Amino acid sequence: MVAIAPSILSADFSNLQAAIEAVERAGARLIHLDIMDGHFVPNLTIGPPVVASLRKATRLLLDAHLMISDPYRYVPAFLKAGANMISVHAEADAHLNRTVNLIRDGGARPGVALNPATPIQVLYDILPELDFVLLMTVNPGFGGQPFIGSSLDKIRRLKTLLLDRRPEVQIEVDGGIVLGNIGKVVEAGADIVVAGSAIFDHGNPQAALEAMNQVSWKLAVT
Ligand code: DX5
Ligand code: ZN
Repeated sequence: MVAIAPSILSADFSNLQAAIEAVERAGARLIHLDIMDGHFVPNLTIGPPVVASLRKATRLLLDAHLMISDPYRYVPAFLKAGANMISVHAEADAHLNRTVNLIRDGGARPGVALNPATPIQVLYDILPELDFVLLMTVNPGFGGQPFIGSSLDKIRRLKTLLLDRRPEVQIEVDGGIVLGNIGKVVEAGADIVVAGSAIFDHGNPQAALEAMNQVSWKLAVT
């Protein structure tokens, strides 16, 4: 079944507990954490101390999306903070195999993230080591950007590649997903759908997530 991962990037950072409780009530199983370093992407967000605090506040899976240069150096801190899933960008790491193995050996699920302009071919030789691939469907750095339409074809092509080579690898899709396009993203092959502004810029985050769940679960049973 498709899982929606609420991204707290668009939540009120002075009250993350309330944000998490709202999506827990709507049945969320994981929380997406956008880690930005002001170097790999032009924005700064949170680091390991905030992840460690969130670890104490919730039992939901913590999905850390590292939009940082030299991720290998920081993976141990995110493992220690309690992240359950950690994705690193292919564009930020010349030694992906080493980093992915560090994540797995540390007890978390490893993923590789790709920017919109990065071809899926770069995944070919790392696929055997992965639990998931994160496809960016906006240029990373900010919430609330419009979905890049050509990404639907990229999701489909990745799904075809995975069915051929590693069907158990999940596809996570991140950026610009709203109630109006989540159906197309799921139909294209997404297993995990990240949604930030569509949930937390909504007056009622619980209702926003429930509405998105309705669309994706309906597609899953038809
Ligand atoms: C963007 C982040 C996304 C972001 C998505 O760089 O990786 O996870 O929070 O936000 P929306 O859903 O608003 O595009
Ligand atoms: Zn993200």
